[in-house]
Amino acid sequence: MAETGFVLWLTGVSGAGKTTIASRLAADLRALGRRVDVLDGDELRRSLCRDLGYSREDRERHAERVAFVAERLSRHGVVVIVALITPYRSARRRVREAIPRFVEVFVKCPIEVCAARDVKGLYRKARGGEIPNFTGVSDPYEAPESPEITVETDREPPDASIRVIVKWLRDHGYING
Ligand SMILES: Nc1ncnc2c1ncn2[C@@H]1O[C@H](COP(=O)(O)OP(=O)(O)OP(=O)(O)O)[C@@H](O)[C@H]1O
Ligand SMILES: [Mg+2]
Repeated sequence: MAETGFVLWLTGVSGAGKTTIASRLAADLRALGRRVDVLDGDELRRSLCRDLGYSREDRERHAERVAFVAERLSRHGVVVIVALITPYRSARRRVREAIPRFVEVFVKCPIEVCAARDVKGLYRKARGGEIPNFTGVSDPYEAPESPEITVETDREPPDASIRVIVKWLRDHGYING
């Protein structure tokens, strides 16, 4: 039987752990023999979405384009992992509607913990007023109300978050083995 593709959509604020989880999870799923593609926000902003900024409208367009590509890839059996802040519920609802096998993963972490991590030094700049429209500081983040999976990255290391996701995918028949 051909393997069925699906889209794992990682949403969460900057520094919550989307990229970390996406890249390690991709490696684990490849080791299980799956074809995996990661569509990461930062990379997309340098390519497919180079023309987009951070207004609500542009963030929604960003999500819409990524959903289009993700859905196409998933039709061919690919596991697509999207790592994108996707702060608006309305945008996440639309991408869910556009993708038949859609799994929303809330990468949950308090903003204070993310700001303390400050992986890219962006919180310091945002709080200093250097970056407008920064999610969680000067722009909203609407937390998911009923995501398929929630991982709490202030309470567990990346390996534990990945185990939670892999277990859910096994329990729900998305992956074997
Ligand atoms: N359970 C966890 N899952 C993922 N990352 C974690 C976890 N616990 C701690 N971390 C740490 O949190 C940081 C997350 O940074 P990462 O770049 O992955 O965030 P991001 O959500 O991709 O942010 P951005 O939206 O800015 O790209 C890393 O330093 C990572 O090691
Ligand atoms: Mg990232």
